[in-house]
Amino acid sequence: MYRNIEEITRAAGKIVLQAHHIEDSVEIKTSACDLVTAYDTAVQEFLYRELSLAYPEFGFYGEENEHCETQGRKGWFIVDPIDGTANFIRRLHHSCISVGLLLDGKMEYGAVYNPYYDEMFTAQRGKGAFLNGQRIHVTDVPMNESLLLFGSAIYYRETIPATLRFVQELFPRALDFRRGGSAALDLCYLAAGRADVYFECCIRPWDYAAGSLIVQEAGGIVTALDGTPLRFYDRCSVAAGNPKNYAELMDVSKKIADEPDMKGRIR
Ligand code: IPD
Ligand code: CA
Ligand code: CA
Repeated sequence: MYRNIEEITRAAGKIVLQAHHIEDSVEIKTSACDLVTAYDTAVQEFLYRELSLAYPEFGFYGEENEHCETQGRKGWFIVDPIDGTANFIRRLHHSCISVGLLLDGKMEYGAVYNPYYDEMFTAQRGKGAFLNGQRIHVTDVPMNESLLLFGSAIYYRETIPATLRFVQELFPRALDFRRGGSAALDLCYLAAGRADVYFECCIRPWDYAAGSLIVQEAGGIVTALDGTPLRFYDRCSVAAGNPKNYAELMDVSKKIADEPDMKGRIR
């Protein structure tokens, strides 16, 4: 079953690779920084069709049009058809297709595929995490040797001060920062040991569903920024690290959360 989900996700990658005249298909969703292309919609439609056909027992929760068929289901797919749409539009080749399966409230399976590099990250609960079939692990470096990835929660402008506080507080403690533009790939890069921490103040389940399981199965720790479990039904912050640097990430988060102007903002 899981090999088939992987194959469906890989097949969706062809739509991304064959995209042309992308700029002509761009539409604004909620604001100038919230864009969608005809390809985001086409990938979601493809995944919905293929996954519903193969697994009619599972529901579907996808980003585009907030497509949600979850009522009365034991499990459902959580799908970001293109994570890193801004990169896709600018041909930065750092975008992916993210498919997760939530079963009884827990992530059971995740596949994140970057078609440009033909990199398929996968994990099944309790079975480890893989990149193109090879086992991957998080690093074990402390914060002062850590490369940090973060997202700027671009659709939630009210999170800007908190995001900047995290950068300010973590910058002197860590090795350096990178900002890739795809939360799902950020999580997979952490899982593969290409980076050591990832955080973002407010994102949606399709951004982190598959990637969070891949991090956990690679030996990492993923929670919301306040240390509580991730929520897969609503927006949430994300804090992810390896077992050596996660505690310091939490210390920083707590310190920021206790600041008077941050009260109630770190969740
Ligand atoms: C976005 C990317 C980005 C993150 C945003 C996400 P999209 O997803 O993952 O890195 O900072 O919060 O919404 O819009 O490209 O699918
Ligand atoms: Ca996304
Ligand atoms: Ca998307």
